[in-house]
Parts: sequence; C-alpha cells; structure tokens
Amino acid sequence: MDVRLGDGASAPVRLITCFEDEQPCLKGLPEPLAQLVGEAAESEAFAKKFGTSLVLTPGQREAPRHIVLMGLGKASEFNAEKARRAAGKAFKEARKLKGAGLAIDCAGMMDKLDPRELGRALAEGVSLAAYKFDKYIADRKENPVKEVIIQGEGLEQGVNQGLVLAEATNLARRLTDEPANVMTPAHLAREAEEAGAKYGFSVQVRDEAGIRALGMEAFLAVAGASDNPPRLIVIRYQGDPGSDQVLALVGKGLTYDSGGLSLKTREGMNGMKGDMAGGAAVIGAMAAIAGLKVKANVLGIVAACENMVSGKAYRVNDIVGSMAGKSIEVLSTDAEGRLTLADAVYYAVTVEKATQVLDIATLTGAALVTFGKITTAVLANDDAFYAKLQKAAELAGEGIWRLPHGDEFKELIKSDLADLRNTSKDGAGTITGGLFVGAFVKDKPWLHLDIAGTAWASSEGDYHPKGATGVGVRTMFHLANTMSKGE
Ligand code: BES
Ligand code: ZN
Ligand code: MN
Repeated sequence: MDVRLGDGASAPVRLITCFEDEQPCLKGLPEPLAQLVGEAAESEAFAKKFGTSLVLTPGQREAPRHIVLMGLGKASEFNAEKARRAAGKAFKEARKLKGAGLAIDCAGMMDKLDPRELGRALAEGVSLAAYKFDKYIADRKENPVKEVIIQGEGLEQGVNQGLVLAEATNLARRLTDEPANVMTPAHLAREAEEAGAKYGFSVQVRDEAGIRALGMEAFLAVAGASDNPPRLIVIRYQGDPGSDQVLALVGKGLTYDSGGLSLKTREGMNGMKGDMAGGAAVIGAMAAIAGLKVKANVLGIVAACENMVSGKAYRVNDIVGSMAGKSIEVLSTDAEGRLTLADAVYYAVTVEKATQVLDIATLTGAALVTFGKITTAVLANDDAFYAKLQKAAELAGEGIWRLPHGDEFKELIKSDLADLRNTSKDGAGTITGGLFVGAFVKDKPWLHLDIAGTAWASSEGDYHPKGATGVGVRTMFHLANTMSKGE
C-alpha cells in the first residue's frame, strides 16, 4: 500500500471529517455531493461524536464512489492520537468498501493541529492499521486498498516521518508475531543485520563463546537449557560523532519463555513467543532513528535466548554470577528476563560507555495485572530523564505511568546467600523486577519500561490488529529525537 501526499480527487473512497460544534469542510467537493454530505452531517443518523461514521454512496460512476463522513468529537479535545485513530478507522472503512484508493481530506483538521503532528499521525494511523501477520495463511486476503492519498498543505515532513515510524513499528510487530520455532536467537540476530543494511546502522553479533568471554554468567544461565544457542546483538548508530553522549536502548530478547524448571502452566505459556517484544521494539526504534537520521548516538542491545527445560537447565536455589561480579540467588527460573537484562545493561554502561540507559521488557505479569493492556509501567531514577520520556510517549500516543522505587523496595531483592535474589521476598513484582535491572546500571540515568501488558493486544484496536503492538518503538524514537535537540 502506497501512502503519499497529493490530490485525492480520483480516489474511490474519500474521508471527510466533522467536529461536533462545526460544519464539515466541503471545499473541493462538486455541488450535488457537497449538498448530500452537508445534509447528512446535520441528520439524526450522524452524531459527530469521536469515531462515529456514516458511509454515503451517492451511486455515481466517477470518484468518489463512497464518502466516509467521520465525527471527530469536540474541536477543543482534538489531538494527534485522535487523528491517528481516525486515520486507522478510515483505512478500515475503505478496506471494507473494497476501495482501491482512499483520500484523506485534511481541510477540516488543518487549523486544529500543528501540520507536522497532523501529517505524522495520519500517515502512522493508516500504515499501522494496514499491518497484518498472515504469512502462514494459504488463502490470505489481499489488501484491496492500494493507495492512500493525504490531501493538505504543509504536511510533507510529518507524513514522511510518520511513514518511517509506522514501518519501524510494523517491523517490531512482525518480529514479535513470528513464532518461536522460526524466531530463534540466531534468526533475530539476522533480522537485526538485515534492518541495519536497510536503515543504516551497524550490527555486531556475539555467539555463545563471545558471550562467555564477556563473563555474562547470568545471561548464560538462562540460555543454558536450549538447543538454540544465545546471541548478543549490539546495534550502533552514530548520528552525532562529536558528542560523547550515548543513549543505550536495551530490549528483553527471550524468543521463548517456558518458565524453565519453574515451568509455566499451559495457559501461562500461551503468548510467550512474544517475550522478545522489548528486543523487537529496540530493533524497530533503531530502524526509525537511523532511517530518520536523528542527530544522536544510540546503542541498541538485545540479549537473545530461549528459557527452556533440559538437563542443562539452571535450577531454583542455584547461585549464578554476572558480568558485574554480583552473585544472584535464583528463586524462580521464570524470573529470567531480569538476569539477561542485568548483563545487557551492565555491558552497555561499561564496554559500550553508554551515558543513559533505557531498558524495555515484557518483564512481569504484575504489570499486566496493574495496568491491563493500556499503560506501560515505568521506573526511573532521574526526574529530568523521566520528563523527557513523558514527552516522547505523548508524541507517540503511548500511555506510561511511573511507579515508586524507594530503598524499602530494594530490601525485597536482597538475598541471605548472595548479593541479590531474582524474585521479591514480598510482593511489588513490577517494581522489584525493575529494581533488579537497575542494580546493574551503575547509577547512570535510567528508565525501565515494563511492557508485559502493552506489547500484546488480545483484540483489535483502531490502528492495530490482535497480536503484537510494537509498543515502545515510537516512544524510543521520540526520546532520542528530543534528546538530540537538547529539549
Ligand atoms: N515473560 C514473563 C512475564 C509476562 C507474563 C509477560 C505475562 C507477558 C505476559 C516473565 O519472564 C515472568 O515469567 N515473570 C514472572 C516473574 C515472577 C516469577 C517473579 C511473573 O510475572 O510471574
Ligand atoms: Zn519472560
Ligand atoms: Mn519468565
């Protein structure tokens, strides 16, 4: 599907929007149609509430064959997220109508949003809504919508940015949706290399021997039971060679999480192919950052492995080492993500000299219990860094919420037998999971995003199908982008 700016006069489906307290903008519509749409907008059938729509089919041969009249709610409450959702809804209407082309007439929205934000949101909305993971279905249906034409002045920069951001998000979704029998650690590493060649970042992959040479004993303990060997994926992008600042994005890369010897239940294991969603989001974010040539130095790290069961599996009550030299008492082999991330973030701040660290992980079921699939749980040791994340998440249309992290929580992961234990002594699952990772960042400004709830949708939304959401890709892009501007 081709999404571009232009004149949508010949597109078979046209979107016309209308705010609650206004008339629809009918500029450019031929007279009989303008009257039809004007009357429909005033009819009982059309409430103008956000997300409501009415499809008008005037029965003419020439374009537009169908007009989707969509309510956008109160003009004063309009924002980029609503534009993104409206564009996603419009794409789905066009798909239902089997229209080969959709024109999005922006005339009514132009004065409500900054043109850059509007263009970005519309391009994202349609491209994200068009994503499907259907490669394994023999008689999959083709997308009938071949082109989307966005019509409006000054939207170019935003549309171009939105297209890359949606493509990067869809890349992360695809990596996550792919089943674990295909998406092994080695396969994920190859995908990162391919993305590097396409978007312009370098990728270095270390195999098991290379990981051992680094002393990553915690990571290797988790990886040990699998016949699919681990990979440490290191992505480097130098957009600002003159600066010594390096932002590290570290993603959890469990290509499958069976729980290990602390085996998950049948129901609990369902979905665990997606336990590398954080790693996929990092690869997607690096694609967007490099693709849009952000002026910042950004490092992406994914410690990819599989948590399985065998005679080589690590055990409950084992005490394992780590690259940082801290010893870890294992109380559940299912709390594996933090072990892999501990070595990954430590590697980022020591070997790679990262000056700021963000980790993103499907870390705790407790995050899903607390925030459902709506909001990503965040820990932050630095208020200014968190403020930047808030701004970035707002631009991305992704919800975040910061949790407390005081010293009383740190007590919960102290062990009698080792430096740390990998589960909490008493509750606070999301906070203690995050703090465990935070114990390895050497006091660098640090953000921890627990996406266990938000990485996976159990039903379709306005711009995502059921399945992987690609959450975090656009937030991480905007974080790197705002940091590069010193904002
Ligand atoms: N990958 C899971 C977390 C998860 C659960 C993600 C549900 C998505 C949906 C993680 O490795 C895990 O198993 N966490 C345990 C930690 C516990 C043993 C301390 C959990 O949340 O139960
Ligand atoms: Zn896991
Ligand atoms: Mn687990």
